[in-house]
Amino acid sequence: MEEWTVKINRCAVKKEKPHTDQLEFGRVFTDHMFVMDYSEPLGWHDARIIPYQPLSIDPSAMIFHYGQSVFEGLKAYQTPEGEIQLFRPEKNLQRLNKSNDRLCIPAVDEAFILEALKQLIYLDKEWIPTAEGTSLYIRPFIISTEPYIGVAPSHQYKFVIILSPVGAYYKEGINPVKIAVENQYVRAVKGGTGEAKTGGNYASSLKAQEICAQKGFAQVLWLDGVEKKYIEEVGSMNVFFKINGKVYTPALNGSILEGVTRNSVIQLLQHWDIPVIEERISMEDLYQAYVDGNLEEAFGTGTAAVISPIGQLSWEGKDLIINDSQTGKLAKSLYTTLTNIQYGKEADPFNWVE
Ligand code: COI
Repeated sequence: MEEWTVKINRCAVKKEKPHTDQLEFGRVFTDHMFVMDYSEPLGWHDARIIPYQPLSIDPSAMIFHYGQSVFEGLKAYQTPEGEIQLFRPEKNLQRLNKSNDRLCIPAVDEAFILEALKQLIYLDKEWIPTAEGTSLYIRPFIISTEPYIGVAPSHQYKFVIILSPVGAYYKEGINPVKIAVENQYVRAVKGGTGEAKTGGNYASSLKAQEICAQKGFAQVLWLDGVEKKYIEEVGSMNVFFKINGKVYTPALNGSILEGVTRNSVIQLLQHWDIPVIEERISMEDLYQAYVDGNLEEAFGTGTAAVISPIGQLSWEGKDLIINDSQTGKLAKSLYTTLTNIQYGKEADPFNWVE
């Protein structure tokens, strides 16, 4: 960075804010955005907060052709005392740089970005919704902007942070969702980009998502890309299963996203002395646990989805109805404790909020 300050250019007219009890996920954006550019030999420079506006990008910019980009997702919350809290933002920024490394994008200064993000949120703090289950979703992303259509890492980039007041990610809210186990398409393989938060992973998931939505499912559960046998993750969530009193989640294997909520849930379970096992889980073993009456709960975790109980899993023509399609006790406790910490309604023994 040539200059470690953020220039601020405030909007002249503030936009009308949405009713916070009718918020959907990701449709409305606040008054300002953060932008910073990368070029050589300057490196990252010209950090600024400007009114929310379209980006002007050359049609030959590499992002449009080969998709060299990364993104993150985190949230800001307002406490009952009116304070603003972020949940583990350092984890997201660390992951951003891991994704950057995988996508050949130059690293950003995590401490500087966190400061810039705080300034942006402070400027748009009136946009943090306060209705139950709402928050301010933060979407940092980096795109390759060099005007060149040869296949190579770009030499120019744009880093942008936009903010969106959001409600529940699923229309079901905290109620259980129906998930289809995907047998035809795969999301990622070891050595690929599954672990990185990059748009291509989501683009390639759309076909399966569209087919399952037509059949009434909220999302698909991805199996491993080689044998289509082992459970990986759900479209926008990591996944957990409670079997015989123990909690299982697929081990991070290079093709699964390292979720911040996933990590927080594992820590919470350990704090509660509930055994949590990270290992390779086959769909066959899960089905057997279900048939034996041992599959007590299933739920997904994610920044957008928070904790989302899974009421039904459909796999090879079989429907696994989990916990009578009701929200399980464990999912409920995790949801309550995690959101209480995030919203500053409960002590934070882990120092997660700041
Ligand atoms: C998040 O949970 O923040 C995500 O990035 C999932 C998203 C693709 C909606």
